[in-house]
Amino acid sequence: MTFRTAAVIGAGTIGLSWTALFAAHDMEVQVSDPRPDLADAVADALETFAPHLGRTAAELTPRVHLAADVAEAVRNADVVQENGPENVEFKKDLFATLVREAPSHALLLSSSSAIPSTAFAAELDDASRVLIGHPFNPPHLIPLVEVVPGERTSAESVERAVEFYRSVGRTPVVERKEIPGFVGNRLQNALSREAIYLVEQGVVSPSELDTVMTNSLGIRWSTVGPFLGSHLGGGPGGYRHMAEHIGKSMKKMWAGLGQPSQDPEQQERLIEAVESAYGSSTYSELAETRDRKQLAVLSALDGAAREEN
Ligand SMILES: NC(=O)c1ccc[n+]([C@@H]2O[C@H](COP(=O)([O-])OP(=O)(O)OC[C@H]3O[C@@H](n4cnc5c(N)ncnc54)[C@H](O)[C@@H]3O)[C@@H](O)[C@H]2O)c1
Repeated sequence: MTFRTAAVIGAGTIGLSWTALFAAHDMEVQVSDPRPDLADAVADALETFAPHLGRTAAELTPRVHLAADVAEAVRNADVVQENGPENVEFKKDLFATLVREAPSHALLLSSSSAIPSTAFAAELDDASRVLIGHPFNPPHLIPLVEVVPGERTSAESVERAVEFYRSVGRTPVVERKEIPGFVGNRLQNALSREAIYLVEQGVVSPSELDTVMTNSLGIRWSTVGPFLGSHLGGGPGGYRHMAEHIGKSMKKMWAGLGQPSQDPEQQERLIEAVESAYGSSTYSELAETRDRKQLAVLSALDGAAREEN
């Protein structure tokens, strides 16, 4: 079936970005959020994000509607994307409302970064349509969506979620087991732990660490993931050579990886160091630069993929 109407519940950082993406794919979008500045926030988001999607705000605005409450937002939805606070009690209550108020065919998707849906769907009468569709910020630009079924999600809902995310130009990956943080954030957190440790130890400053990352692994990992990267790193002998030779020293390295202390004093020092590196620019300025560069990367990757075909 085609997905014509989306409900976006929670219009913060993630919900506003989904709103623009869904509208740019010609869906009608109902948005619900109790924030008092909702109308301005949606208007600003459409103004900023529409050009990223090759559209104008004037084209997207007529498709985006502000709903009075959650029930009104989901009444005619084919798909609901939940982006409220990352809090299991909130999600329990909200999904009970969604199951009650949304049409019986509607997919009920949560953007949750770390909480598996079984944790908030266990007590629902019908959990067959509830699952995680976890994006990376901002979802209108970063293609990945982690599709994570809960214990009671039906196979059909998983298939439909994959179909839905593909229909809005995303790259869904279905994960076979629920694990807190899913895959993307576990990888991100493993890296963040070492990044914080290196700054805490005075090896590099936050901006130096960011320079290391964006000039090496960041570029590599947008073209090959860690496994293909290692397969290539092994030369013609491939991953086997890598694992059997360099693999031994890698195991020693793992044992020496850092465990940041992050006691309140260390945490304050780190916050101040990050603020002193980046605090002179506003959130909008930094986000605009990030988005411009991310669009450039995506467009270059598209070009390379076209040359291959
Ligand atoms: N920020 C990220 O990088 C990121 C990335 C991927 C996933 N997520 C996940 O997406 C979800 C939203 O995160 P965010 O960063 O956009 O948070 P946010 O704080 O920016 O937005 C949350 C929004 O939910 C709204 N809200 C509160 N109660 C509500 C209700 N009853 N009905 C509707 N809306 C309500 C708030 O007013 C707020 O605007 C979380 O589950 C988070 O884990 C965040």
